[in-house]
Amino acid sequence: MAENNTDTKSSNQMWGGRFASGPDAIMEEINASIGFDKKLFAQDIRGSVAHATMLAHQGIISAEDKDKIVQGLNTILSEIESGNFEFSRRLEDIHMNIEARLATLIGPAAGRLHTARSRNDQVALDFRLWVKEELEKTERMLTSLIAAFLDRAEEHAESVMPGFTHLQTAQPVTFGHHCMAYVEMFGRDRSRVRHAIEHLDESPIGAAALAGTGYPIDRHMTAKALGFREPTRNSIDTVSDRDFAIEFLSIAAITGMHLSRLAEEIVIWSTPQFGFVRLSDAFSTGSSIMPQKKNPDAAELVRAKTGRINGSLIALLTIMKGLPLAYSKDMQEDKEQVFDAAESLELAIAAMTGMVRDMTVNTQRMKAAAGSGFSTATDLADWLVREAGLPFRDAHHVTGRAVALAESKGCDLADLPLSDLQAIHSAITDKVYDVLTVEASVASRKSFGGTAPSEVRRQIAFWRARN
Ligand code: ARG
Repeated sequence: MAENNTDTKSSNQMWGGRFASGPDAIMEEINASIGFDKKLFAQDIRGSVAHATMLAHQGIISAEDKDKIVQGLNTILSEIESGNFEFSRRLEDIHMNIEARLATLIGPAAGRLHTARSRNDQVALDFRLWVKEELEKTERMLTSLIAAFLDRAEEHAESVMPGFTHLQTAQPVTFGHHCMAYVEMFGRDRSRVRHAIEHLDESPIGAAALAGTGYPIDRHMTAKALGFREPTRNSIDTVSDRDFAIEFLSIAAITGMHLSRLAEEIVIWSTPQFGFVRLSDAFSTGSSIMPQKKNPDAAELVRAKTGRINGSLIALLTIMKGLPLAYSKDMQEDKEQVFDAAESLELAIAAMTGMVRDMTVNTQRMKAAAGSGFSTATDLADWLVREAGLPFRDAHHVTGRAVALAESKGCDLADLPLSDLQAIHSAITDKVYDVLTVEASVASRKSFGGTAPSEVRRQIAFWRARN
């Protein structure tokens, strides 16, 4: 273990002059963020290297001091990465911990790093870099989830299942079509992620405390070095803004809502009563008392994590809503919300991707369920419109009587003898039986975006070209 930051120096001593004593223990406890913002160490060091390099390039610090600073920062990076860095709560946050260690390592040159910079633009930079990387990761994970759905949709472009409204059997659809509905949802989530990356792609460093600086810095140079499109335009906004974090949380909340609906469907589908899917052993658990049980715990936890993500979004919106410009310490509370939501979101996407890939689809159960509940009643009504020229409202009425009859006889529509159907309406012929099967029903729905296997395959091709 390196002997770094273990001395009793506190951040009050680092800014010295005005402060005669260290903070009260409670002050230290409420003020410190090192417990969570140490996650930003790599971003902090990257930002400092870019800043020091720019300062030297502009002649604000000497090349020798810059070299010492960069070397020292690289040493600190490997110390932290290898677990040989002792973080000190007395030094408040990641920025002060690194700067204090740099002073121990390289002496007075360390004091030049903070020229033309404040922790306000420093933290805005570090956090932006972190959120940007997390968004890029989310984009990749959503792409895998979409790929998993595309494979299942292709496999089941013709597998018939009941489509529901109000969770009551509505009309037959294909399982492939249902999978493609999720592809649309996660595709929109992914484009929200891409927009968010575009929004935050501006470099905050150089805004300083809030007003900019009198030193001849080059913010375009640091922006470029750090992989940003351009520097932010307004220094006050730069240190006040946490929209990028709130946007991440909003996207996480919307994506979480989609994942949670999928989780809910998997919970329902995997019950013995539905039996549409069987989860793999890898994504289910047993019961400690009931040997027959196979529980969809991962899906349930995805549903629950969504609540947690929503909480983080509301927390940060509430933290920010009353703050006057520019920086206030309240903003330090942004990180835990984002870190927690990011962890939940990653787990939730990964778990759902695994479940979708692994689950066994019981096409027989789905097909049997698709045919029950008079799911082809609309097809009968449409047949009466098309073949017998009835107005749709009259056809709806005639069909309703056929459904009532089938219900009273305890059979399906297709099981009613022709004589029964003709007694309800004389125009009905035995051709009607062709449209009463679930396969005929789905095959007929060829409208753009409809459930016919040909349409589902077209939807799959559209997304394959974009994934
Ligand atoms: N730890 C602080 C945060 O996360 C860094 C910025 C502190 N700035 C200040 N003016 N006290 O927000």
